Amino acid sequence: MKRIDLSAYGTPQEVASCVEVPDVGAPGPGEVVFDVLAFPINPADVSFCRGSYRLRPPLPATPGAECVGRVAALGAGVTQVRPGDLVVNMQRENWVQRRRIRSEDAIPVPAGLDPAQAAMLRINPATALLLLEDHVDLKPGDWVIQDVANSAVGRHLIVLAKARGVKTLNVVRRDDVAAELRDLGADVVLKDRPDLAERARAVTGGAPIRLGIDAVSGDACRRIADCVADGGVVVSYGSMSGEDPAIGRAALNMRGVSLTGFNLGRGLAKRTPAQVREIYADLAIKLRDGVLKAPIDSFYPIEDIKPALVRAQQGGRNGKVLVLPNGPL
Ligand SMILES: NC(=O)c1ccc[n+]([C@@H]2O[C@H](COP(=O)([O-])OP(=O)(O)OC[C@H]3O[C@@H](n4cnc5c(N)ncnc54)[C@H](OP(=O)(O)O)[C@@H]3O)[C@@H](O)[C@H]2O)c1
Repeated sequence: MKRIDLSAYGTPQEVASCVEVPDVGAPGPGEVVFDVLAFPINPADVSFCRGSYRLRPPLPATPGAECVGRVAALGAGVTQVRPGDLVVNMQRENWVQRRRIRSEDAIPVPAGLDPAQAAMLRINPATALLLLEDHVDLKPGDWVIQDVANSAVGRHLIVLAKARGVKTLNVVRRDDVAAELRDLGADVVLKDRPDLAERARAVTGGAPIRLGIDAVSGDACRRIADCVADGGVVVSYGSMSGEDPAIGRAALNMRGVSLTGFNLGRGLAKRTPAQVREIYADLAIKLRDGVLKAPIDSFYPIEDIKPALVRAQQGGRNGKVLVLPNGPL
């Protein structure tokens, strides 16, 4: 079977190759074997290849934080999935044609859910949900500001906020995505510029923005903090600039804005297994019903991992790059 191995940590398309490795074998007791149908290339996977992600396993290493697969075989005692079921894997190392995992890590997805959307269920929808839930007790009518608003997380957040009556001020770096985001329910879309705080005040009529959400980091985080009301919270959850988050002293000291960080694993760990299952069941239904949707830029076969990685690092894409290890969906 084919698998993506990193021979070193470095430029993703240089260090990642598609290699032939032995099959995973038959499932043991309590195990499930599934064929990987699709996996997305997320920013965190790119960081993993570069060696700048929090996990840096010994080489050769296989990336892949999420995927969707079709169950091929069950070990003794497995009852919660059946052969043919679509499952998402709660474990990593998914850039491969086949996986053998503990059955409790294979979460079945509802019938009718597009496998391409299912491949993107585990990380970004839950991230958007927990960013909204875990930092500020938002009430209908409250404002939230976020950057990378046209990312998968940003789009999910717009929809989930709208459903709670929370207004979103969405910061992007190009104008051509504004209409699409408004169609999703964005209240305001602004292009990032040094005068972001003045424009934010103008469009909200000075209403307090209680939560700022940043995944660009560096000075972009400072600009988000400058938009947030006195005593508000800025959550840093990514770094598309590759920089560390900055915050001005006026925001931090004089206005009592606090800066905190978010990581999905930590967010889920605060919840019981039953709550986590409930979150994913609800998000899967929303993806199935088209309430949530992550646009897809392009599909690649697993052998073309290098051009897929090149594309995934280009700005201005119209969605995710998906890799299909076992042929077209
Ligand atoms: N902490 C966590 O647990 C967690 C979980 C999930 C995701 N994340 C983070 O969330 C962020 C979004 O992830 P995603 O998968 O939703 O992203 P995505 O769909 O792949 O979109 C990437 C976004 O980043 C923008 N971008 C790229 N480089 C940029 C730069 N230098 N400056 C400003 N914007 C830039 C892109 O803008 P254009 O469209 O204009 O190119 C696009 O909006 C990433 O930073 C990711 O690491 C964190």
